[in-house]
Amino acid sequence: MSSTHTFPDARRPAPERLTLDVVLCADSLVALRALPAASVDLALTSPPYFRQRDYGRGIGNEASLDDYLSALLAVFGECLRLVKPTGSLVFNVGDKYDRKSLLLIPHRFALAALERFPVQLVNAVTWVKRNPTPRHFRRRLVSSAEPFFHFAVSDDYQYFPQNFLRRPSAPENSQRRARIGQRYFQLIAASSLTDQQKAQARAALEAAIAEAQAGIIQDFRMKIRGIHSVPFGGREGGRNIHLERDGFTIIRMHGERLKRDVIETPVESLKGCPHRAVFPEAVVTEFIRLLTRPGDVVLDPFVGSGTTAVAAKKLGRRYVGIDINPEYCAYARQRLAGAVCQASLLDAAAW
Ligand SMILES: C[S@@+](CC[C@H](N)C(=O)[O-])C[C@H]1O[C@@H](n2cnc3c(N)ncnc32)[C@H](O)[C@@H]1O
Repeated sequence: MSSTHTFPDARRPAPERLTLDVVLCADSLVALRALPAASVDLALTSPPYFRQRDYGRGIGNEASLDDYLSALLAVFGECLRLVKPTGSLVFNVGDKYDRKSLLLIPHRFALAALERFPVQLVNAVTWVKRNPTPRHFRRRLVSSAEPFFHFAVSDDYQYFPQNFLRRPSAPENSQRRARIGQRYFQLIAASSLTDQQKAQARAALEAAIAEAQAGIIQDFRMKIRGIHSVPFGGREGGRNIHLERDGFTIIRMHGERLKRDVIETPVESLKGCPHRAVFPEAVVTEFIRLLTRPGDVVLDPFVGSGTTAVAAKKLGRRYVGIDINPEYCAYARQRLAGAVCQASLLDAAAW
């Protein structure tokens, strides 16, 4: 981490307390400078894209990419001043083509943030859009993913991975449970194992399926000689001996499901919303639950239609949203008035 940035900035008189659960209609840099240091647990935002949409004012219409990145980094620096040492910043920055070439704006932003500020980049989480705009290009593929950069202020960032992509036992999950491991039966049948080894493999598979369905193990993988590669590194004595001797091995997973750096959701559009680039609430919800507790403060300096604030309110967090556009601010406040805290059974189980 480079440390060319000092914070909090002692030269500036800052108010002592943060006013919570508000949408401020202002230029974010100006508004952020007036907020007290180390008062926010999570700054989560999607800044305006570079020359992609004309919001009529504010960031995004700079003459050059360098000017745009400077403007974003200035806001990032102010957010960093506001975030507590245990807090995080999550920035979703969009990319753009220029003369048929991607500019890699998100990556330029992330690199510049790392060079300029004392932060660590914990993950570049990929949001995969299940339903990207159906446009066809002759000589390139449709972009259907965007990065969300998770920066931490210190090694002590608060983190609740047990809440990330946590799903209640929905009907689709019970269907999935019924299918668990079934594919291995065909693979055993198609393998070159002896009849006796096949019978043993089927019995071991049935036992593992029963454990997974009963919730005794989270999941498992089966490796069959001649079909799967040897376990990672090829040196894990026990497993390779099983493969050699029995023709198969079963790897049981006892902990939580693997927490991958991918969130897959549809793109959302809100009926009657004046904003054309809203965040999917589902993605925002995942980050809020991963990085904050109930009662924590979530800041979005480009709150637009209010999605971050709405998700925070629903999850029992406090929020501060800022947007330069009065129409968006009015819409966000209206959305917030209709949002209720829905502390779910899922949350209760997680805390
Ligand atoms: C990509 S949109 C954010 C959308 C938001 N995540 C949502 O779900 O609706 C970016 C927003 O930044 C706002 N904006 C642009 N420049 C700004 C500035 N200097 N200060 C505050 N807001 C600004 C725009 O009005 C726009 O609403």
